Amino acid sequence: MVSSDKDPREDVLQAWYMDDSDEDQRLPHHKEPKEFVSLDQLAELGVLSWKLDADNHENDPELKKIREERGYTYMDVCEVCPEKLPNYEQKIKSFFEEHLHTDEEIRFCAAGSGYFDVRDRNEAWIRVWVKKGGMIILPAGIYHRFTLDESNYIKALRFFVGEPVWTPYNRPNDHLPARQQYVKDFVEKDVSNHAVDAAA
Ligand code: LAC
Ligand code: NI
Repeated sequence: MVSSDKDPREDVLQAWYMDDSDEDQRLPHHKEPKEFVSLDQLAELGVLSWKLDADNHENDPELKKIREERGYTYMDVCEVCPEKLPNYEQKIKSFFEEHLHTDEEIRFCAAGSGYFDVRDRNEAWIRVWVKKGGMIILPAGIYHRFTLDESNYIKALRFFVGEPVWTPYNRPNDHLPARQQYVKDFVEKDVSNHAVDAAA
């Protein structure tokens, strides 16, 4: 790709560092000035992303390929709005508690939009805005949380390898093998790279 070409994924996925304010979680929470994070930087944290065809996902060959390659046999639809989500208020609260899972969290936004916040290596929050057509995979063991944005609605397809387990382990849960593996693969790896850079 020519470097001036815009990554097409950025139409449906954008990421930035968050400010520290306690205002409404559904606001964008940009820093001043804004500090964007590239999708390549997200990939270095193990967060993978795609732009896919939301209106034709049943027949999308790219989604089919991802599912086959990664073994995502399970799929369901999760709509986050008071009419469709049982215990809406309680769920909204627990989604926004910092947590991890022992498996990947795989979400494809079929309609609406929302914010997936992930911790970077230095514990700073990166807000990832996922809009219609955006697909995101959070690796097992990454601390994260979710909130609706000001549009107040998302319809997400959820995928899983085998029988789904949605259990959130609220922070701190650093003893879990999935957390230790994440730290080994994505946190310590980078630290050693920097140590090499500094020594060079
Ligand atoms: C989940 C999101 C909300 O665990 O992080 O389903
Ligand atoms: Ni989660």
